[in-house]
Amino acid sequence: MALFFSLIKFFMATPNNNSPELDAAYWNLQYQQQLTGWDMGTVSPPLKAYIDQLTDRSIRLLIPGCGYAHEAEYLLQLGFQNITLIDISSEACQTLQEKFKDQTAIKILNEDFFEHKGQYDLILEQTFFCALNPQFRSLYPRMIHNLLAKKGKLVGLFFTIEFMKSGPPFGGSTDYYAHLFYPYFESKVFKPCYNSHPKRQGSELYVILKPKLCTVSTFSQVKT
Ligand SMILES: C[S@@+](CC[C@H](N)C(=O)[O-])C[C@H]1O[C@@H](n2cnc3c(N)ncnc32)[C@H](O)[C@@H]1O
Repeated sequence: MALFFSLIKFFMATPNNNSPELDAAYWNLQYQQQLTGWDMGTVSPPLKAYIDQLTDRSIRLLIPGCGYAHEAEYLLQLGFQNITLIDISSEACQTLQEKFKDQTAIKILNEDFFEHKGQYDLILEQTFFCALNPQFRSLYPRMIHNLLAKKGKLVGLFFTIEFMKSGPPFGGSTDYYAHLFYPYFESKVFKPCYNSHPKRQGSELYVILKPKLCTVSTFSQVKT
């Protein structure tokens, strides 16, 4: 399946457009130049609130496009034992290796999310989807669906504004996300976020999504 996503990504990529290729080199440069304006320096308040009510510390957790992974620090403090972090940037991953040295509860993978294989009970989304080349957005729900266990959940935040400058970040709308996710997920929560970080107040959708039992035809119906 990971090969399938890589191939689709390869064929969907359109060279010679005006936006930069959002690859490892691009993200490494952002980290090297400390252009990390997205970094809140702390666990995202809505994700903290969600994490706070979890009781099972052994669940398999994934944070894709984790950056400096403040959520993982918080999860560690609470005693979660099985946390996987993925980031395409080796710069970010080196920082994480230092930060989480000797922490057996944390696995750090320097790889493209779309090439990842695994099975998780909970995937946390925080400013990763908005960083993707919009051409690849339709792959995201399929990939998340594929990585979640039957009773797993995607919990996260999505920007409901459009940005003045060309992205990343790339924005979106509630209707757009509904169109993207509803073919694959049952929505438990899908509403404006009331407890966003102060800098993001009024600009985020908070979602808790559970995978539907998708058939092959469901997958082929969704436009790429
Ligand atoms: C805007 S930053 C957000 C980082 C972190 N989630 C946060 O909120 O602080 C996006 C992150 O996604 C990573 N990234 C971008 N494309 C990726 C991909 N295809 N696979 C894995 N990581 C990716 C970048 O290296 C970067 O660390």
